[in-house]
Amino acid sequence: MKKLAILGVALMVTTFLQAAPALAAPVRYEAEAAPAVCNGTIDSNHTGFSGTGFAEWTVNAASTGTATIGIRYANGTTTNRPADIVVNGTVVQAASAFNGTGAWTTWASKTLTAPVNTGSNTIRVSATTASGPANLDFVDFEVAAPTPEFQAENATISQGVVESNHAGFTGTGFVNYDNASGSYVEFSVPITAAGSFTLEFRYANGTTTNRPLSVNGTAVDFPGTGAWTTWQTRSVTMNLQSGNNPIRATATTAGGGPNLDKLTVTMGGGGGAPTAAQLLAKVTACSQISNGRYSTDSETSATIPVCQKSGAVFWKADMDIDCDGIRTTQCNENTDCCFLPDTFCHSSTDQALNAAQLPYMVVPSPSSIWDYRNFQIGCGTVVAIIFNNQVLYTVMGDTGPSSIIGEASYASAAALGINPDPSNGGTDSGVTYLVFQGSQRVSPIENHNNATNLGEQLARTFVNNN
Ligand code: GCU
Repeated sequence: MKKLAILGVALMVTTFLQAAPALAAPVRYEAEAAPAVCNGTIDSNHTGFSGTGFAEWTVNAASTGTATIGIRYANGTTTNRPADIVVNGTVVQAASAFNGTGAWTTWASKTLTAPVNTGSNTIRVSATTASGPANLDFVDFEVAAPTPEFQAENATISQGVVESNHAGFTGTGFVNYDNASGSYVEFSVPITAAGSFTLEFRYANGTTTNRPLSVNGTAVDFPGTGAWTTWQTRSVTMNLQSGNNPIRATATTAGGGPNLDKLTVTMGGGGGAPTAAQLLAKVTACSQISNGRYSTDSETSATIPVCQKSGAVFWKADMDIDCDGIRTTQCNENTDCCFLPDTFCHSSTDQALNAAQLPYMVVPSPSSIWDYRNFQIGCGTVVAIIFNNQVLYTVMGDTGPSSIIGEASYASAAALGINPDPSNGGTDSGVTYLVFQGSQRVSPIENHNNATNLGEQLARTFVNNN
């Protein structure tokens, strides 16, 4: 007699809901289903059985890939009940052990992986000894969707050509940008649920000169990789919307872009917003880009350089309080000796900014020391101010004296726990200003939530690439 105890079958299929390569949160489908084929008995008394036997489930996979298969079983004997595990007719585990679990009521799970196809697949557990298989409860089935990849050669190309003369590319080739600023590759990335994503660009740059790209306005460096056949990656963290997201990577220097192989998009912000410590760890060494140095106050000597990192510049200084802009109880001629009813940058309605309300920071006016305008920095650029283990995302909102550095609005100081009083507030040291380069601007400039949102993405990109 051959019988096999099957104590109910539940199939759980976890999948990425995917139409073309689209990304979404995993969707779990649960279904009760009997095995399609069963050579044994379906019992509910937890007893064993004798003779060889098998059970086969038909499962559905949303995509081709590697499935994780979990088989729940009980074996109340002390003797192994080996079985072949067969997926789509191929033995993927021969005489796989189903050892004693201690009791027929004690269930254990065996997990294995196997290649599966899109659509229907069969999973058979087929006993290889006369004792038959263990009692089988259910099968968990999950296929991770392949990570969506977008080949550059299939994207929209402006001023560039598809080539394949340097080995190591994926797909059928790569894009060789023209050696021209403004040349670009634009991908269309379909997303089913909005969220934070990591965009990884695979590239080669056989020169020793950086080939920066503006990725939807975020400045990203693509430094030399050693050879045109040596491929590396750079990542950008970005919020994407549901629907098609155009991702344009535009060369910003005369050298043009690097050779671009593909874009890979994964869900998640690559670790979320960085902490103050994670950001500070990236700004310990200064590669000075200013011609000279700045003072923190009119009476101090010039000791503060502007330093260059990948995608950002930074300085470490004090904080003076800017109370300029529209008149408020906090900021006016009486509270501030040097009150100016205007700021260099204006709101979306062309008003001066509100220093008491909006966290903004102040960049030195252009001079021979340094000119922010040559570094893809302007009104609405996001600036992370790091102080006392906190990160505050602000915007460039004003320009200040041309030889003094380290200034932020009343609201910036207040948010960081610094005395915001324009006459006696501020702090003498310990403030890091990290200014993210690129054409992307906070819009409208007076929306602090937008600054924080964009700042967190830029900060994650900064940590990825430095
Ligand atoms: C070389 C190289 C190209 C590359 C080009 C460049 O010609 O073979 O693949 O794109 O340099 O400078 O961009």
